[in-house]
Amino acid sequence: MTARLIDGKQIAADLKARLKTRVTELTSAGNRPPGLAVILVGADPASQVYVGAKRRSCDEIGFKSVSHDLPDTTSQYELLELIDQLNADATIDGILVQSPLPEQIDEQKVIERIRPDKDVDGFHPYNVGRLAVRIPMLESCTPKGVMTLLQATGQNVSGKHAVIVGASNHVGRPMALELLLAGCTITVCHRFTQSLQHHVEQADILVVAVGNRSIVDAHWIKPGATVIDIGINRQDDGTLKGDLDFEVAQSRAAWMTPVPGGVGPMTVATLMENTYIAATTLHG
Ligand code: GUN
Repeated sequence: MTARLIDGKQIAADLKARLKTRVTELTSAGNRPPGLAVILVGADPASQVYVGAKRRSCDEIGFKSVSHDLPDTTSQYELLELIDQLNADATIDGILVQSPLPEQIDEQKVIERIRPDKDVDGFHPYNVGRLAVRIPMLESCTPKGVMTLLQATGQNVSGKHAVIVGASNHVGRPMALELLLAGCTITVCHRFTQSLQHHVEQADILVVAVGNRSIVDAHWIKPGATVIDIGINRQDDGTLKGDLDFEVAQSRAAWMTPVPGGVGPMTVATLMENTYIAATTLHG
């Protein structure tokens, strides 16, 4: 078997093109464009790349994009004050603070300072709680983007056994909630899981989000499974690879996401979708 690739780059481009059309309709009817504020603290090279992609997407779609690049000596107080200002700004629909943050800043305090209706990352406990009780408002971008990718394969995921490897607050956990909401039976594996191989072998849908290429052996993939690789691992030669051995995974799965060009671009497109939703249904 050779897996069909789930083309995240193309699916993301299609979503952004649809959003661009809708923004043109909004603005030609005399409305303001959706506005996204992106805050970067410090100069982490990977964060600079991600933030750059988010700001460029805003420009492509026609959103108002506001950039705040702060030094890595910024205090928590200063960052919270900036968030308060943006919370009160009626031209801003979404606020994103890129993580990781310098050690003097408590990330949880920052997340909770952002107004839930401007929390386009979907990280605020209010938004996570809404997803948990099946009334989502703003959903975490990577897991929501993965659901869009699964939809694009044309499969009905209801009733399938989904195994998620990784239980982080921003990816693994909300991913489990999304798949549960879609009717999957869920297994979440984490650092204390025994018999990881046994669980991975049961997966109709396998989602790997560990940020390490030596945890999940792609030979464990059930033949015919759908495989979503959320890992981004920079190799010594500068190339990016996922958490799985691509060739082995492709020889076993029916569908899989490539890295790069899978989940990454979809996360950015979903951030744009969330900003549009905030502007039109929450602030419209
Ligand atoms: N750092 C890496 N990915 C993300 C993301 O999706 N949102 C934020 N805020 N920071 C990140």
